[in-house]
Amino acid sequence: MSNLLIKNIKSLVQVREELSGPLAGEAMAELPCIEDAYLEIQNGKILDFGHMDQCPRPNGGMIDAKGRYVFPGFCDSHTHIVYAASRENEFVQRIKGVSYEEIAQAGGGILNSAAKLQNTSHEDLYNDAVKRLEEVMKMGTTSIEIKSGYGLSVESELKMLRVVKELKENFDIPIVASFLGAHAIPTKYKENRAEYIQLLTEEMIPKIAEEKLAQYCDVFCDFGFFTPEETSIIFDAAIKYQLRPKLHANELGHSGGIQIGVKYDAISVDHLEYVSEEDLIALQNSKTIATLLPSTSFFLNIPYAPARKFIEANIPVALASDFNPGSSPSGNMHLVTSLACTQLKMTPEEAINAATINSAYALGLGETVGSITKGKLANVFISKPMDSIAYFPYSFGSDLVDKVIIKGELAY
Ligand code: NIG
Ligand code: FE
Repeated sequence: MSNLLIKNIKSLVQVREELSGPLAGEAMAELPCIEDAYLEIQNGKILDFGHMDQCPRPNGGMIDAKGRYVFPGFCDSHTHIVYAASRENEFVQRIKGVSYEEIAQAGGGILNSAAKLQNTSHEDLYNDAVKRLEEVMKMGTTSIEIKSGYGLSVESELKMLRVVKELKENFDIPIVASFLGAHAIPTKYKENRAEYIQLLTEEMIPKIAEEKLAQYCDVFCDFGFFTPEETSIIFDAAIKYQLRPKLHANELGHSGGIQIGVKYDAISVDHLEYVSEEDLIALQNSKTIATLLPSTSFFLNIPYAPARKFIEANIPVALASDFNPGSSPSGNMHLVTSLACTQLKMTPEEAINAATINSAYALGLGETVGSITKGKLANVFISKPMDSIAYFPYSFGSDLVDKVIIKGELAY
């Protein structure tokens, strides 16, 4: 944890004097910035910021950010970066016309990942996850959620979450673990789903709570996966063990998941490619954040979530990568902001708000990261030279993240 002064910043992005709460509606379009700014970091936290006129003397390291923007690091509130193997064979199958659901029903997809993970050691899983985590950190992600869900047995789900625990111990960024044992029904329970639900609620959840391996409990509530009724049973157990619900819902159709998420006060409901008027009303009357994952729509070639409808309905929208081997083999949050603009019709300001402050709240870390606010962690990135905020999402596929600072130290 260091002291650092970043000076001559062309624009300091996402400056919030006060804790803002998740932004919704018109507030999402406002991205407060200070032009020609400094940022002062002490003991790994944001101490002060302001116009260069008031820039203090350095009391430690110094970086001259002339011509560059400083952003709070991306908060990626939805990833599956612990996995055993890539699935480019399914990618090729989909190019040839087989659907994601058809692949899943034939034992591919999540079950394919689970079969591979069962035969992969903790050490190998950890080493591969480290590579992915370092890759996304280099691209500006400085807080992240990581799910289990490719174990689907007591032993393998615990193995995944212990890998996440080791990542938490060895990386100095906020890492939040979610238990996603309800990611798919394992083949051997296909004819007896209730038995798998029982395994989740009576064995996995208690063990995970006992070892404090996860903060959230996620369920894939969608066609061909878990029903709203099954999701309710799982969430009842999760709440009993102090795991807060979050949800995969409405990726493959109108699943009814949004209502269940709202009923159980889920921190977020994620995906939401299919949304009805009732879904919007349910979310309007809740504190649940709508997390959209446009790289999944891009990669699976499925509809994009109707971001404008959420914004018009005053529902806070967050963005995340969904980094996983099946539906989004990328954790590039810069690309996510570009897709949010081109496909979800979000403005650059809305996209950056959704990928920083709102996704920080979707991680449960809105008071710790996600904006340039005194006392928050000094997890920021410095851009390459650029002339406007819109240039960032505009430059899709380019690498505009020049330096990544974690708790005041130059990490990349
Ligand atoms: O968020 N939708 C469910 N789970 C992941 C995909 C997992 C996979 O295909 O391996 C997702 O898209
Ligand atoms: Fe996911």
